[in-house]
Amino acid sequence: MRDDTLLNLDPRHPYGAAAPPLHQTSTFGFESWEAIDAAFDDRAGTPIYSRQLNPTVQLAESKLAALARAESARLFGSGMAAISAAILHCVGTGDHIITIKNVYGPAANFMASYLPQKTGVTTSFVAGDVGDFDGAWTDRTKLVYLESPSSAVFGLQDIEAISRLAHARGARVVVDNTWATPVFQKTLAMGADLEVHSASKYLCGHSDVVAGVVLGSKKDMDAIAVNEGELLGAKMAPFEAWLLLRSLRTLTARLDRHQANTARVVDFLDRHPGISLIRYPGLASYPQADLARRQMTGFTGLLAFRLATADLASVKRFFDALKIFNRAVSWGGHDSLVYAPAISYAKEHPPERFAEMGISVGDIRISVGLEDPEDLIDDLDQALSTLDH
Ligand SMILES: Cc1ncc(COP(=O)(O)O)c(C=O)c1O
Repeated sequence: MRDDTLLNLDPRHPYGAAAPPLHQTSTFGFESWEAIDAAFDDRAGTPIYSRQLNPTVQLAESKLAALARAESARLFGSGMAAISAAILHCVGTGDHIITIKNVYGPAANFMASYLPQKTGVTTSFVAGDVGDFDGAWTDRTKLVYLESPSSAVFGLQDIEAISRLAHARGARVVVDNTWATPVFQKTLAMGADLEVHSASKYLCGHSDVVAGVVLGSKKDMDAIAVNEGELLGAKMAPFEAWLLLRSLRTLTARLDRHQANTARVVDFLDRHPGISLIRYPGLASYPQADLARRQMTGFTGLLAFRLATADLASVKRFFDALKIFNRAVSWGGHDSLVYAPAISYAKEHPPERFAEMGISVGDIRISVGLEDPEDLIDDLDQALSTLDH
């Protein structure tokens, strides 16, 4: 079955309801000793307590698994809960991870600081070509953690080639697929063992939910459910799952519109003299355009561009002049957002170090929403005109 259909087709709900029931309950009651005893024997199939199993959450998990062509899925209370669960599932004391330099910040901190202190697991951060992973390999390497495209500088990794390398050496591969979504990129079919998402972005899509998901084989997911899932306990709540189910019905339609709007906005930025660089994997001139087209069937709405000025006062003037783009972190919602990476980088690094990190004071990140693209272009145009003064 194709994606649009499976996202809109439900099993029959009680009373023939068109929308799924919201099982907003912590616990489930049983008729007798025998009944609850039997439920414990069938923990995976019978809801006993919502941290273990909730039917509303389970329906959302089964839809996401079908969409990603995974055997199973587990929803978490945030993308970071999903990421930390997936990583902890793959490594043990003293193991080694290889990931990319520009991996999502809190995931980088988890691997660079938290894991070595608590578990002795160490991580090498590499640029992202296949040879970089080969070069950083040690006999302790058990996990390759990818984020393709990355949400900071939009670098891609060759998922198929890197998975082949890792599997030949007995390591696992986890891919953060938040940018592309399981609609535009099927990482498990390319060889990844686990796929993770911040469902706070396109999957929920309305800037109103924080959530995450891990997808993979039944064997891996059963282990994650009883270990990192139930013991660390960051399970998605039923109401969030209900909102996610509602959002999934429009996922492909929203993505079509995000893609079309973004193509218009990128075309405008590409021709504007006030812009010196665009980072968007959907751009024909993008350095990794071939790999992007090989790995993804479409492109979403998060991108970065560089203002042709490094004067902080001018950059701030541009940023503050935007009227439709909301100045906020996060992305992937109905609403267009703008953020300047220099704001967070400046908290941790002096501006002199920005260049070696691949960012500039004039870098602007936008998430293109579902508004009329002409209004978004007009808004960017009037804000860019402040740079002329
Ligand atoms: C690429 C990427 N992965 C993971 C996360 C973490 O997700 P969450 O904020 O839902 O914990 C984010 C959040 O911004 C992200 O951008």
